[in-house]
Amino acid sequence: MKVTAIAHPNLAFIKYWGRKDEVLRLPTNGSISINLSGCTTKTTVEFSDRYSSDSVNLKDQHSSEVERIVKHLDRIRILAGITLKAKVVSENNFPSGTGLSSSSSGFAALTVAGVSAAGISLSEKELSILARQGSGSACRSIPGGYVEWINGATSEESYATSIFGAEHWNIVDIVAVVSTEKKDVPTSQGQLSAQTSPFFEIRATRMAKKILLVKQLIKEKKFSEFGELIEAEALEMHAIMLTSTPSLVYWSQGTLLLIKLVKKWRNEGLGVYFTVNTGQDIHLICEAHNVDKIKQKLLEIPEVIKIIVNTPAEGAHVTEEHLF
Ligand code: PMV
Repeated sequence: MKVTAIAHPNLAFIKYWGRKDEVLRLPTNGSISINLSGCTTKTTVEFSDRYSSDSVNLKDQHSSEVERIVKHLDRIRILAGITLKAKVVSENNFPSGTGLSSSSSGFAALTVAGVSAAGISLSEKELSILARQGSGSACRSIPGGYVEWINGATSEESYATSIFGAEHWNIVDIVAVVSTEKKDVPTSQGQLSAQTSPFFEIRATRMAKKILLVKQLIKEKKFSEFGELIEAEALEMHAIMLTSTPSLVYWSQGTLLLIKLVKKWRNEGLGVYFTVNTGQDIHLICEAHNVDKIKQKLLEIPEVIKIIVNTPAEGAHVTEEHLF
């Protein structure tokens, strides 16, 4: 059977950097995210005896991902008790490898399409656990709205779940794409050195409290306190990257320029905060009434080559529009 799924990459406000179990991709701490409405991965999967080997067509995405995708197809085949080979075609409507977490939507869409194409039905929790094994953050793209990846001790306890619906709070993530150059160290590889930072243990002790606090601030919709917290969290994660061995610098000149501008705009009274993942693109977080003002400012900056406006989106789901 052929099945197509759509998933959105997610943006973590409280982030996942470092694992307590590499094989199962169990993170050191829990994390909190939203799915990004303006960014979409669409993936079609078909298992068939017409195929003598797996074929994976990823359009513009990293070819190094192919091996991971075949490994994920193997997980699905084991669950479904089948040995059929598969054809996978996947496309993104946003740049990959630049800080927009394309692997989160990629493995979420692959999980939802693959499981259904293999003829099995899993709960949202089971889909999240499975997606996590492909790419950790992919577990957060399975549920919709505001999402928590629970810090479980075992594979069965490490999954993501919706904590508030997408409509709970209409905050906006304006992504400023500052270069289409792909990162030189993939996230999965970067994660391996997190523990080498002398500050990793200190960060780990702070995370449970941060998660509780951000959940409270989201619940009460306290924008400036929320913004202060998530901006400091992004800088703390990058402090770990900068002080790891080997050190990781994911920012470009465009990223730094915008970090400074966001602080300046805030000093001038504009309610905007930033967060950055692994890659140069920067996420500007604001309330809905400030979107036009911020877009206008970004359009005047030559380093910004594209703007993507996102609101909290739904989770991964099946669609009838196939790619082949
Ligand atoms: O799931 P991965 O291996 O792509 O790691 C995601 C890492 C960050 O995007 C930097 C942080 C996060 O929690 O999304």
